[in-house]
Amino acid sequence: MTAPVAITPETIAEAARRLRAGGLIAFPTETVYGLGADATNGEAVARIFEAKGRPRFNPLIAHVPSLEEARRLAVFNADAEALARAFWPGPLTLVLPRRDDAGLSDLISAGLPTVAVRCPAHEVALAVIRAAGVPVAAPSANRSGQVSATTAAHVAADFGDAVDMILDGGPTPAGIESTIIGRHGAVPKLLRAGAVTRSEIEVLLGRPLVTQLAGGPAQAPGMLASHYAPRATMRLNAVEPVAGEAYLAFGDVPPGTTVILNLSPSRNLREAAANLFAHLRALDATGAATIAVAPVPEEGLGEAINDRLRRAAAPRPL
Ligand code: TXA
Ligand code: MG
Repeated sequence: MTAPVAITPETIAEAARRLRAGGLIAFPTETVYGLGADATNGEAVARIFEAKGRPRFNPLIAHVPSLEEARRLAVFNADAEALARAFWPGPLTLVLPRRDDAGLSDLISAGLPTVAVRCPAHEVALAVIRAAGVPVAAPSANRSGQVSATTAAHVAADFGDAVDMILDGGPTPAGIESTIIGRHGAVPKLLRAGAVTRSEIEVLLGRPLVTQLAGGPAQAPGMLASHYAPRATMRLNAVEPVAGEAYLAFGDVPPGTTVILNLSPSRNLREAAANLFAHLRALDATGAATIAVAPVPEEGLGEAINDRLRRAAAPRPL
């Protein structure tokens, strides 16, 4: 199994060298761990799909070190410029018309005329992308459809030898993926709720976002109904667990509950987002058949948390 390595100037340089040579490198971002490959190298990008067991119709995000680099890959309109200036580096992904002269592998867009771009804020992610000198295609570093990875140990458990190097930057601070904004005609559209809240974006744009409906048409091909799924079945909005269920609490814990983890005892949504995937993995590892989850308010980061919980609970493909 590929063991995680500590962050040093040498391991960053080694990761960049391996990326340029077509390798698969897992690295921390401020949201979740990413599984990176050189976005201009079709064979390297293909390895991401194989390692994750990801369907080829599900496109990847190109990670770049700056807005300037992003402009070389995609066409920015005024809204996109304003969003990038306000939230980059940071947990916001923009789906924009793709420039065909940018040298990106076709696989990264899965045949769409668009490309998703993001400039991450995590210093390790930025250092690796800068040192690599190429845009880095990176989905979340988990097996396709399963729970995202917020620690290097999660990545190692999911991928074994299928990844060439895992940079261990500790737990990722936000714990939930980037917010993805695309367009519906001229109107900005929320394709995935994430670490930047809807209201932060609406305040910046000065108008409401159109919302992608779960299971809707192909504009966000990865937004499948079932995603982020643990092995256990999930029961949402559970005020208390029934016998045999593992319980994921939010706030107060019902008396007498046995297997329990708390997203946030003080009902802090930022803390809950940071704990979400690690707690789901830990409760799944108890072997309980069902994970019951307390109600989480649909406000601020709660929109992204509830999106992940609903998809984790959705009926699964056979
Ligand atoms: O926080 C994040 O965004 C993390 C870190 C590693 O950066 N990455 C991440 O990647 O969550 P992934 O592949 O797990 O999710 C990216 C989502 C997928 O649902 C995919 O379908 C969507 O972005 N996507 C990528 N390119 C797209 C495009 N051109 N049009 C619409 N959706 C796109
Ligand atoms: Mg993912």
